[in-house]
Formats: sequence, structure tokens, C-alpha cells
Amino acid sequence: MFPAVVIIVTCCTAIVLFLYKYTTYSYKYWKKKSVISATPVPFFGNIKDHVMLKMTQGECLKNIYNDFPNEKFVGIYQLQKPTLLLRDPEIIRQFLVKSFTHFTDRGFLYDGHREPLTKHLVNLEGDTWKMLRQKLTPTFSSGKIKNMLGLLQGCGVQLINYMEAAIESGKSEFEMRDLTAKFTTDVIGTCAFGIECNSLRDTQSEFRRMGCAVLNSSASSALSKIVRVFFPKLFKALKLRTFPFEVQQFFLGVVKQTIDFRKTNRVLRNDFIQLLLEIKDQKQPKNADDTAVELTEELIAAQVFVFFLAGFETSSTTLSFCLHEMAVNQEIQSRVYNEINETADKYGLPLSYEAISSMDYLEQCLKETMRKYPPVQALSRVCTKPYRMPGMDVDVDVGTAVLIPVYAIHHDPRYYAEPDTFDPERFARDGSARPAGTYLPFGDGPRICIGMRFAMVEMKLALAQFLHSYSVSLSDKSCARIEFEPASFLSCPKGGIWLNVAKR
Ligand code: HEM
Repeated sequence: MFPAVVIIVTCCTAIVLFLYKYTTYSYKYWKKKSVISATPVPFFGNIKDHVMLKMTQGECLKNIYNDFPNEKFVGIYQLQKPTLLLRDPEIIRQFLVKSFTHFTDRGFLYDGHREPLTKHLVNLEGDTWKMLRQKLTPTFSSGKIKNMLGLLQGCGVQLINYMEAAIESGKSEFEMRDLTAKFTTDVIGTCAFGIECNSLRDTQSEFRRMGCAVLNSSASSALSKIVRVFFPKLFKALKLRTFPFEVQQFFLGVVKQTIDFRKTNRVLRNDFIQLLLEIKDQKQPKNADDTAVELTEELIAAQVFVFFLAGFETSSTTLSFCLHEMAVNQEIQSRVYNEINETADKYGLPLSYEAISSMDYLEQCLKETMRKYPPVQALSRVCTKPYRMPGMDVDVDVGTAVLIPVYAIHHDPRYYAEPDTFDPERFARDGSARPAGTYLPFGDGPRICIGMRFAMVEMKLALAQFLHSYSVSLSDKSCARIEFEPASFLSCPKGGIWLNVAKR
């Protein structure tokens, strides 16, 4: 009996010691480099509250950011992964813009062979990313966006028609996140995939169902994401997937059918798929390293898929957060309404590109929304070329992960007085200048959001069309202060955004 107990206790102790050693082996990394670091806890490092789904990544990083008010950067551990958390705007600009060649990648794991849809601009690295970005950039020029305005206006009209019918049938309370997500799904459906999905009318819309499957924020998908990011070998070994197989087949199928249909019927349309097909048909110059990227149908599918992935939820949550702030701040809503009316009087309806561009106050409101609720709460980079911190005796090794805590910076009272107050005046043209690197809803540098201009036009148009016809106020179900859903990768309001909507 006695030896059996001893054996069990010895084995348990050995296992505990092994696990402790295994989960803390890297925790001397920053000390060895003489970098000030946050104290990690075994296994979790410094992101326990995020991993345990108590808060979002951005909120977790904000706590660390606030713990080191005098540091320009702080060493942290994401589980076992040493990561540099940047605090200082000048250093952030260095990493994102001036020294970009040292930090070209995000370090997101993807397997383009097994999951072809993951071979997209957000994930791609090095020269492949660079060449594809060059090819895709003209697709988002103001001229190209202007040509898509008709498609955007059409989605806005569908939204208004839907509201009209719902209000006539006696409905007055709406969950805005769902409503705006259906609107932006329709926008990406028509502008990227060339599909009229009308997910507002068709509640069974396959496209919307797939969108929900992609951005599923359940605990199991959050866990799968953690395994993918922090235990890539395990992710591969278990043959886990970034998206369900069904989603992959759906999007590959949709793009293939669309391309085939257009080729057979010689259909031309002002949308992204058309622009990508035009690029595909151009001669493909090869560069000196022979790293030319051929825009195959599969690669086109991955790019339109990422426009969907990166474009629909970011814009829809921003729209719903903005409408929430309009409901809380009625005087701001009145000022926006006046501006829309004046613009409609001056330019006529439907609003033209020039009319949309002229609405400065509406733009300020959107900018302030993305300041207070940045959809992407942290930017990621990985060191791709050895780097010495400017003016310091600190070397950043290749492979080191870098995080820029956007949410924390946007809520730092040094840059934004009373950060919890919604104040669009912060973005007035003659407003006080803040340092570069302190407003980053779309990122910065060569990897800045490629869809930024498109998103601004889409969101301004949607808000103008909506607020021209309807006013919003808080409903009994809504809370003035929004909490984020911790399992969600993008900022997402917990419990949704419930507002009363009335016809003007
Ligand atoms: C409110 C709307 C949006 C927000 C807040 C947003 C935000 C962002 C952010 C923060 C990044 C990372 C930038 C960095 O690492 O420096 C990004 C990248 C990207 N976004 Fe957006 N985005 C929005 C809408 C869109 C739309 C509408 C599209 C496409 C139609 C889009 C496509 C992309 C792509 C492809 C990338 C990767 C760019 C690259 O690595 O070269 N985004 N976005």
C-alpha cells in the first residue's frame, strides 16, 4: 500500500513539475533582454483573463498598458509566446511605417493547400503579399468605389423598404447589430461576389448563414482560434480547420459559378469580382525573384472571401455602435440629421459620391465611433528581419510577435480627454492635433486596411439613408454603456444593441 501511494505521489509531482516547467520555460525571455515585462502566470502568461473569456483581447491589453504608464514598450507573454507590446506612438509609427521592412507580416498561421480560402491578403506574407497588394490596390481607388455607388444605394433602399414594412406592421424595437449585419452582408454580397442576397427580406439567406458560420463567436470557436494561434503544431496535427469545410465549399463554389456565368454570358458588372477578373486577364509580369503571383480562380475566391471576412462585420458593428451613440446623444443625432437634410437639399437624392464626401460631421461621428469602439482592438505584426530599437540597446529577434493595443491607446486620456465620452468634435478639422500613431482603427503603414475608403463610403451612405428617414432612441432593453462579447475576435456588443426606431 505504502509504496503505491509513494509512486502515485511521485508521478503526480513529476507531472506537475513537468507541466510547470513546460508552461513557464520561455518566461525568462524578456528579462534576459533587459526589457521591462509584465509578470506572467504559469501557462497563461499575461492573457489569462482573455483566454478564460472574461474580457476581450483589447481590454486585457489595456490593463497591461495602464500598468506601465512610463514605458515605451513592455514585454509580455501570450501563453508561452514572448510578445512585444508597444505603447509609444513614435515607436508604433516606426514599426508600422518607417521600419515596415522589418515587420512585414502578421504571423497568422494558414495552410493554403488544405484551406485555399485562407490564402488571402490578411494572412499572406513577404513578397507574395506585396505583389498581391500591388495588384489589388487600384481596385479600391475612389473612381472604382464611385462606380459601385449604385450597388451600395440599392442595398440602402432595401434596408429602408424593410424598415418601412416592419414599422407599418407595428414593430418599433430593433436589434441593430443584426440589422446592420444583414445590410453589410448584402453590400459585400453584391459588391464582392456579384450576388443579390437580400438577407433582410430572405431570413433563410444562405449567404447570411455562411457569414454567421465564419464569424461564429462561440466558446468552441474561440478555443479553436487559441489553438491555431498559440499551438499551431497541435492545430495541424488535429487537422482542425479555420472555417467549417461547408463554408469553404460554399464560397469556392459561389465564386466559380459567378466567373463561369460571366464568361459564358459575357456579363460585365461594376463589382470587385469583375475588377479581379480584369487583373487576372492582364499580362502577369514576373519579377527578378520569380515570385510573381498568378491570380488563379482559387486566389480570386480567397480575396473576395477576405473582403467578406474583413469587410462585413467591421462595418456592421461600427454602424450599430454609431446608431447606439446617436440614441444616447440626441443632440448629436439632430446635428447629423440637419447635415443630411442640408446635403440632400443641396445635391438632391439619391446622394452622390460628392454629396457623401461633403458630410463632415457624419464622418466625425463615424471616426469617434471607431475611436471609442475600434472593431479591431489590437494590431499584430511579427519581426521578419533583425531590428534594433531606435536609440536603445534592445534587439528584436526574428519571429518575435508584436502587438499594438489600439483599444488602450484610443482610451488613453493623454490623447483623448474623458475617453468614455462620445465627442465627435475631437475629429473636427480644426480640432487639436494628436500625435501620429494614436488613432488606428484601420491600422497604419503599407498594411493599412485596403478597404478603408470603401468602408467609409458604405457606412456614411447607410447612416445618411437611414437617419434621413428614421430617428433612434434607447429602448427598455438597451443599456447606455456597452459591454463587449469576450469570445469575439472583433468588438461585438454583448446582448446586441436594442433601439427604438421611429419614422420621421
Ligand atoms: C469599419 C470598417 C473596417 C475596419 C475598422 C477595418 C479595419 C482593418 C484593420 C485594423 C486592418 C489591419 C491593418 C493593419 O494591420 O495595419 C485591416 C486590414 C484589412 N482590411 Fe479592413 N477594415 C474595415 C473594412 C474593410 C473592408 C470593407 C474591406 C474590404 C472590402 C477590408 C479589407 C481588409 C483587408 C483585405 C485587409 C488586409 C490588408 C493587408 O494586409 O494588406 N476592410 N482592416
